[in-house]
Amino acid sequence: MTPSPVLEERTRVAIIGAGPSGMLLAHLLAQRGVESVVLESRSEEYVASRIRAGILEQSTVDLLREAGLAGRLDREAQEHRGIYLQWPEERHHLDFVALTGRTVHVYGQTEVQKDLVAARTAAGQRVHYEIGDTALHDLESDHPSVTFTDRAGRARRVAAEVVVGCDGSFGPSRAAVPEAARRTWEKTYPYSWLGILADVAPSTDELIYAWHPDGFAMHSMRSSTVSRLYLQVPNGTDVDDWSDDRIWEALATRLGHGQDGWQLTPGPVTEKSVLPMRSFVQTPMRHGRLFLAGDAGHIVPPTGAKGLNLAVADVGLLAPALAAWLVDGDRRPAEAYAETALRRVWRCTHFSWWMTSMLHTSGDPFDAQLQLSQLRWVASSEAGATGLAENYAGLPIGF
Ligand code: APR
Ligand code: PHB
Repeated sequence: MTPSPVLEERTRVAIIGAGPSGMLLAHLLAQRGVESVVLESRSEEYVASRIRAGILEQSTVDLLREAGLAGRLDREAQEHRGIYLQWPEERHHLDFVALTGRTVHVYGQTEVQKDLVAARTAAGQRVHYEIGDTALHDLESDHPSVTFTDRAGRARRVAAEVVVGCDGSFGPSRAAVPEAARRTWEKTYPYSWLGILADVAPSTDELIYAWHPDGFAMHSMRSSTVSRLYLQVPNGTDVDDWSDDRIWEALATRLGHGQDGWQLTPGPVTEKSVLPMRSFVQTPMRHGRLFLAGDAGHIVPPTGAKGLNLAVADVGLLAPALAAWLVDGDRRPAEAYAETALRRVWRCTHFSWWMTSMLHTSGDPFDAQLQLSQLRWVASSEAGATGLAENYAGLPIGF
């Protein structure tokens, strides 16, 4: 059979994945005069509607503002001074502003994604949605490329100077690094989260993280009318075993409904799903002319909401590094990227593991006493509270 002709396209940077990492990278590169093509296997609507985390740390907000992407965020997001940490009968507020001078913003990843897509569409960004057969080639040469089949079924190739894998945990970029050149670290946690979105005003002004003998619970939010709540559940939990009533009852028990007069107001559940909890890191985050950013390079469990923030920090480092190389001919920042980015990756990997381990019950009574002791220390010692606050509100990018 004669192979069908391949449609060729040229760009400076081929970006695989149109999630927050890929779209933000395209934006930051364009601002530095570097053009790119984004390749995405899903539809634009699918990518825009995925429900993910909703907390932006200070450095993420700073970066979005500097990049001119924070117009709607500044109008609509809620700024929080801190969080509540609780265990039965006790609720403590940690004030990040008093402890570190930094805040966090409640603004869903879906909103960040909408703002990114709007900005890139206005700028005429080339994006191929609904592609198939994505494959990376010649990464160790000076002329890497990505081949794929477009929505119309045509074979295509994007030839670039650099390829960036922003294709999340299931994309092909991670595995394009030869096995002998990569190393992975992985931890699967023995519990999952059951998450709901509900059309009801939050019953709290700031997020509540609750340790409870029945398991962890959290009260988060997306806006003044939409609440996001989570329950620790065993791995393998079937969402159909959890009716809305059962969920609200468990949330009320674990979050302390009735304690000191606090009430959890239930409301209509609009989304319900089970999320597995995993830590994963692959190194190096660069191989030849392939760079990894965001979930393609690392996964954190959701406790502490670091996933999106880490993705933003990666591309916040990578964009100027690639511009230094492709515009000014200085390869040093790009060569340092893997090591610099990885320092923050391990910091956030540790913080997410630490928050997860402190708050989720394992069934072991000894572990429970250690967790309660740790929670008391974090809530009552300025040193303990500052450590949590500094990591939660986010260290400066490049730390
Ligand atoms: N070809 C093209 N695109 C692909 C392929 C492929 N073979 N495989 C996956 N993709 C796309 C996915 O469809 C997805 O839209 O790559 C994109 C990766 O996006 P995300 O998973 O959102 O990852 P990232 O942009 O790094 O954002 C990290 O997402 O998972 C959360 O907690 C995480 O909030 C963090 C953020
Ligand atoms: C969320 O709102 O989805 C969220 C908030 C904080 C977390 C995790 C998830 O730690």
